Amino acid sequence: MPFNKILPGDITFFKSVVGDKYVLSDEENLARCASDQTEDLHYLPEVVLQPGTTEEVSSILKHCNQQHIPVTARGAGTGLSGGALPVWGGVVLDMKRFNKILHIDKRNFQVTTEPGIITQELQETLKAEGLFYPPDPASKGSCFIGGNVSENSGGPRAVKYGVVKDYVLNLEMVLASGEIIWTGANVLKNATGYNLTQLVVGSEGTLGIITKIVLRLIPAVKHDLILLVPFRSAVEACAAVNAIFLAGYTPSALEFMERDALEWSMRYVQSTGVHLPDDIAAHLLIEVDGNHMEELYRDADAISQIVQQYDVDEILFADTHEQKQMLWTLRRKVGEAVKSNSIYKEEDTVVPRAELPELLKIIKDLGAEFGFKSVCYGHAGDGNLHVNIVKGDMTDEDWHNKLPQGIRRLFQEVVRMGGTISGEHGIGLVQREYMDIAFNKVQLGLMQQIKTVFDPNGILNPGKILMNT
Ligand code: LAC
Ligand code: ZN
Repeated sequence: MPFNKILPGDITFFKSVVGDKYVLSDEENLARCASDQTEDLHYLPEVVLQPGTTEEVSSILKHCNQQHIPVTARGAGTGLSGGALPVWGGVVLDMKRFNKILHIDKRNFQVTTEPGIITQELQETLKAEGLFYPPDPASKGSCFIGGNVSENSGGPRAVKYGVVKDYVLNLEMVLASGEIIWTGANVLKNATGYNLTQLVVGSEGTLGIITKIVLRLIPAVKHDLILLVPFRSAVEACAAVNAIFLAGYTPSALEFMERDALEWSMRYVQSTGVHLPDDIAAHLLIEVDGNHMEELYRDADAISQIVQQYDVDEILFADTHEQKQMLWTLRRKVGEAVKSNSIYKEEDTVVPRAELPELLKIIKDLGAEFGFKSVCYGHAGDGNLHVNIVKGDMTDEDWHNKLPQGIRRLFQEVVRMGGTISGEHGIGLVQREYMDIAFNKVQLGLMQQIKTVFDPNGILNPGKILMNT
């Protein structure tokens, strides 16, 4: 890519737009914005800018577009596919000053927010008003809503409530040219032309910079209950998932954890909260929610009966705040726990839900064939399995050369089953070499043309999603 390096004249311009204080080129800030939560990757930006208004973003983009300077937007840096990494250097647009909730429209069940607010903070503010924004990525305590929209994040509740895209009604965004647009309207139904809003959701900062987000909300739900079900066979745990839906139940979360996932997480957070007998291979964490406690107890009971048709040990029933918190902490910390254990790669496979047992078998068979160990966990109710491949004692040679062939085979199998290569983490930098498995040349060509229409000079988050950017 023929990008230009940032020169003193550019810095002077940036300072005139955002103020000296928000043009950062000290080592600490450059290093902070060089990585996210993806593996151990580092790409230094040339400068970090912290704009505070849409107009400032507009002036920056207009300038960078004219000067052919790459611009990579950054939220909280919790991404798992390298979406926020400035692989071509240039500007990192650090969106942390966009941290205000602009308007809670209680009458219409909507919120207009800036992108730099922590998702959990947004959720808690809304909850105090009796409103519910369900998507809850594992990193909800630190990730930004803007990052969630850019990656089309999911999380455990997606199984009942859907993912981020299902809540985004309208976006204010700045185009590469510096022009400012709204993508849609603040309505629940919209059959008006092409759906720009949904095109931008999940586009990972490659089509524009999101500066305002309008989300639809639902009434807060009063109660929930959790079952933790230990299985002696991991494949059976996966098979039980579909049996629950076939019996007519839709849990508000249906999570799978292989033994290692739970064991490593317990060690990581120093918890002894779950008894883990030697013969247990996996757990399902099943949450039901609703407004009537008696109904939840009935549903939990019916689900217990269904899973007991499999080879399960004693079911842990959590109805106190502390127990539920403990179980969710263990589940949410699995990713971090694996990361702290070994160099790893995290795949985000997703298949039609009934194919989950087959997916798990294939992962383990490929592991045996290509010599990798995997820890699997994730959103079983969505057919979305996170496959953490740990380096362990694999040689560097095998890690760098043999493993990508194994991953390629895994993704081919996933696509054969009707699935795809990322359910919720995005393609970013680390999965783009596999996009040819999910899409053919015609499909990739369409995507390339969309990218060019929005960003003719290719300055927006280059190096992401598509190979030749
Ligand atoms: C999780 C993240 C890694 O489900 O997506 O924990
Ligand atoms: Zn996940």
